[in-house]
Amino acid sequence: MKRHLISAGDLTKDDALLILDTAEELARVSERSIKKLPTLRGRTVVNLFFEDSTRTRISFEAAAKRLSADVINFSAKGSSVSKGESLKDTALTLEAMGADAVVIRHSASGAPHRLATWVRGSVVNAGDGTHEHPTQALLDAFSMRRRLGSLEGRKVTIVGDVLHSRVARSNVLLLNTLGAEVTLVAPPTLLPVSVGTWPCEVSYDLDAVLPKSDAVMMLRVQKERMNAAYFPSEREYSRRYGLDRERFAKMPDEAIVMHPGPMNRGMEIAAEVADSARSTIVEQVANGVTIRMAVLYLLLGGETA
Ligand code: CP
Repeated sequence: MKRHLISAGDLTKDDALLILDTAEELARVSERSIKKLPTLRGRTVVNLFFEDSTRTRISFEAAAKRLSADVINFSAKGSSVSKGESLKDTALTLEAMGADAVVIRHSASGAPHRLATWVRGSVVNAGDGTHEHPTQALLDAFSMRRRLGSLEGRKVTIVGDVLHSRVARSNVLLLNTLGAEVTLVAPPTLLPVSVGTWPCEVSYDLDAVLPKSDAVMMLRVQKERMNAAYFPSEREYSRRYGLDRERFAKMPDEAIVMHPGPMNRGMEIAAEVADSARSTIVEQVANGVTIRMAVLYLLLGGETA
């Protein structure tokens, strides 16, 4: 593996399988009453969050602590960022405190890439703007593999606000590497212009794609990133692209429903579908800790740790 994890596209199939297999080993530790390993004792992980997060921030912290690393949590709110301190100066300040790895979430696409040119430690992208969220794609692949087995030839449908979704981009790249066949379903206004170059199919007809899907991943409609009207109304969006009970019934019996969270219940996904036994949404959160343990372990501890 490379020193940093910035894009899911940087992972070879061997890299991705090594992370998933390592996570499988580490999941066994998470099932023990004492969940801690000494692997990263004496190492420092900095969580640098310039954008809100619940799942990613907490799971990186839990992952680093379970590996016995020292953890420094930085949130832009309440920091000297409000006095105009730049990303570079913030990063160098934290590095001076001895960071071996910096986990960064930022609203600007490309911020982790830039950060990697300034710091000596490993940089892990925890979501940058509308660009990528590679550990989300890894935990999604891990969750799918646990329910469905090998992803080779599996049909994965990703539905909704692809335009603003770093989760969709990272998933398309990783799932393609792992041999799955991805179809994106969205209104034309919520697809990026470059989607024709992505390694996936595109459809505007959710009802036609659902019966052929092994996994259906619903995306959050990211109203906070929308600066224009991308669809006539929430009701209309939900009618065409929401996963309600009737649509859920069109999926094969073994097919699973996924969502990276946070969800708009009742808009892109009905509450009863989100809470059904075939939903992996809560598992995805638990698997997030395991995958982030594997990533930190492989970046900082390596196979020899
Ligand atoms: N899925 C995800 O990235 O969630 P958070 O924004 O809560 O971290």
